[in-house]
Amino acid sequence: MSHNPHHLLVTGAAGFIGANFVHYWLDRYPMTRVIALDALTYAGNRANLTALDDHPGFQFVHGDILDSDLIERLLREERIDTLVHFAAESHVDRSIHGPDAFLKTNIEGTHSLLKAAKKVWLDDQGVEDHRFHHVSTDEVYGTLAAADPPFSESNQYLPNSPYAASKASSDHIVRSYHHTYGLNTTISNCSNNYGPYQFPEKLIPLIIAHCLDGKSLPIYGDGKQIRDWLYVDDHNRGIDLILHNGRIDNTYNIGGNNEWTNIDIVTLICELMDEHHPAGAPHRQLISYVRDRPGHDRRYAINAGKITNELGYAPAETFETGIRKTVQWYLDNEPWWRAIMDGSYREWIEKNYA
Ligand code: NAD
Ligand code: DAU
Repeated sequence: MSHNPHHLLVTGAAGFIGANFVHYWLDRYPMTRVIALDALTYAGNRANLTALDDHPGFQFVHGDILDSDLIERLLREERIDTLVHFAAESHVDRSIHGPDAFLKTNIEGTHSLLKAAKKVWLDDQGVEDHRFHHVSTDEVYGTLAAADPPFSESNQYLPNSPYAASKASSDHIVRSYHHTYGLNTTISNCSNNYGPYQFPEKLIPLIIAHCLDGKSLPIYGDGKQIRDWLYVDDHNRGIDLILHNGRIDNTYNIGGNNEWTNIDIVTLICELMDEHHPAGAPHRQLISYVRDRPGHDRRYAINAGKITNELGYAPAETFETGIRKTVQWYLDNEPWWRAIMDGSYREWIEKNYA
């Protein structure tokens, strides 16, 4: 059953992927309406959306997904037919230092949205053609050994960090709201994203920023952990396909078929920085091996066969083009990430890398 989103509520819209999604969406579907909701936690940045302030289809709302009165009011008054749920605590390392916020936002927050959607779409108004899309992660599947096949949608959930466990819980609750109440839900589990507007505590922007400042480039453990990297708008392209044609109560894995060890990706970024911003000595001399992340997952890899075969998904960006664009974006937008690196951010760096 296909769906045509007209009025969207996007949660976590001032974060990395949420902001890219809102830009992608309004660029592609300028006649639709997007209510961009964000609590503006440390990870949310209103500046990520200011370029859209004059767009007739765009409205920013500063609010919390735990505020179910607000969510119900927005669903009702804005005649929302599609909720795209990005809001989360998203940083694995922060979940190790302080899991509480992760359980609160990712589990209770998701449930608060589901309750509001059920109330407005099912109990009160009978909005038949609605979608609740939950944005999740490949980390719910746990870790892979070198020779294991990539994660498919039927893999067992074996989350290893408090972050991954909180996302796994939220996936189960979303599923239950379809089976128990008939809410039209879909879920996507995606691999590591990279691109513009990523908060500079995540690996790729952190390495670019440290190269520019001549700071050491921290590699956890032996640096041989493997991630599958996907350009952020290729994630958004997958969500777009699911919103329009995804089957209700289905999960779709999204990935780039692009596995890299951490040390190789950091070395590659160093080479790009040598090219774009020569520093006299090769940037790779800044690489420094530091204490490993506790419980560090060894390898993630995604089998995206389902979304490819069912919905015609294909990433538009190659890693070569995507990583070059990304390095260039951080070079061109230095004031953006420097503004983030304020006092509280520096405290985090001291705590995590102590
Ligand atoms: P992010 O940390 O950059 O952004 C999260 C946003 O959610 C922030 O703007 C924050 O202010 C907002 N938020 C947090 N708590 C909120 C609350 N209670 N109410 C309203 N807003 C709140 O995260 P991201 O990297 O953009 O990830 C977005 C989603 O995608 C998350 O659900 C994450 O689990 C998932 N995901 C991320 C990746 C990745 O590589 N970054 C990969 C797969 C899935
Ligand atoms: O797989 C999807 C997940 O990708 C998302 O669900 C998460 O929200 C997102 O943050 C990301 O999680 P990771 O933990 O994989 O991303 P991060 O950028 O923090 O780290 C990438 C890899 O790099 C990981 O193996 C840890 C390593 N790393 C990270 C940092 C910050 C380092 O070696 N040194 C570092 O300083």
